[in-house]
Amino acid sequence: MDIRQSITGHTKIVGVIGSPISHSRSPQMHNAALSKAGLDFVYVPFHVSTDAIDQAIDGFRSINVIGINVTLPHKQTVIPFLTSISHEADLIGAVNTLSFLDDGIYGENTDAPGFLRAMNDNNIAIPKGKDVVVLGAGGSARAIVVALALAGVKSITIVNRTIPKAVSLAEELSKKINKKNGDNSLDDVVYNTNGTFDTVITGIGFEDIHLPNAINTCAMLVNTTSAGMDESLPLLINPDWLESETIVYDIVYTPPITKLLKAAKEKGCSTIEGIGMLVHQGAIAFERWTGVKPCVNTMKNALLIK
Ligand code: ATR
Repeated sequence: MDIRQSITGHTKIVGVIGSPISHSRSPQMHNAALSKAGLDFVYVPFHVSTDAIDQAIDGFRSINVIGINVTLPHKQTVIPFLTSISHEADLIGAVNTLSFLDDGIYGENTDAPGFLRAMNDNNIAIPKGKDVVVLGAGGSARAIVVALALAGVKSITIVNRTIPKAVSLAEELSKKINKKNGDNSLDDVVYNTNGTFDTVITGIGFEDIHLPNAINTCAMLVNTTSAGMDESLPLLINPDWLESETIVYDIVYTPPITKLLKAAKEKGCSTIEGIGMLVHQGAIAFERWTGVKPCVNTMKNALLIK
């Protein structure tokens, strides 16, 4: 049935805000899973400009919206309008999911646990106590470095084209995370909640002489740079540095199998595609708002429909 024919005065509203928003695939992903679960909810995209964020939040609260996803450019600017935020969101400095509760608005960042849950879904163990290399130092890298450090990896080498960004991100997160470790309010499916970790985080450039060895000896290599979206660009690293035991995770999901993942498969590595993180960050928000675990395959299939 056409989703519009089932909307009544009882239907609960969730959605996403951003600017631009028309490209967002979240409505198709969430509405497919809401229908599949038989929930009387609808997920709506809202274009909200930067200067209207406070009015939008007030409006959502007054019309009893249940929850809102937050995308660019509001992931940081929305924080002052919230009542409380999660431990991970505080470390990352950005939120992507709001829940409108009786006692206020709660913000969290589901990218971090979504990244790790997608590994579980692929039956690939999180490399706790091992070394990881992360390519990129932007917003996605921040969430992933926090996720991996809270999960208890031994070291994270952040590699970025603009070296000072890698160095400052590494310094900032080292101080914040290792100071705050041992938090046991975290999701114990994916995190190391016994508080024994102390992750060494460093930032370097792609020309650094230590990079080949860092990649050669790491348990996992993660690409967070948007470079993977453009197949005409050369690979940022030499795939000959990879060992077949290394997990290679590319969070880029267009194309589904990036040049890096193709090269990694040729080397015999286990690979993880970016669509899983996209689905799982949405699934965690869905469960928060509805109290029901969504069908992740329904979400994934909905994203694959052009
Ligand atoms: P996101 O939120 O997806 O992480 P972002 O914050 O804009 O997006 O970060 C994009 C990342 O991709 C950055 O690390 C960027 O490197 P710079 O900090 O040097 O800009 C990286 N990136 C984008 N295009 C790249 C390219 N062609 N080569 C190498 N790195 C690239």
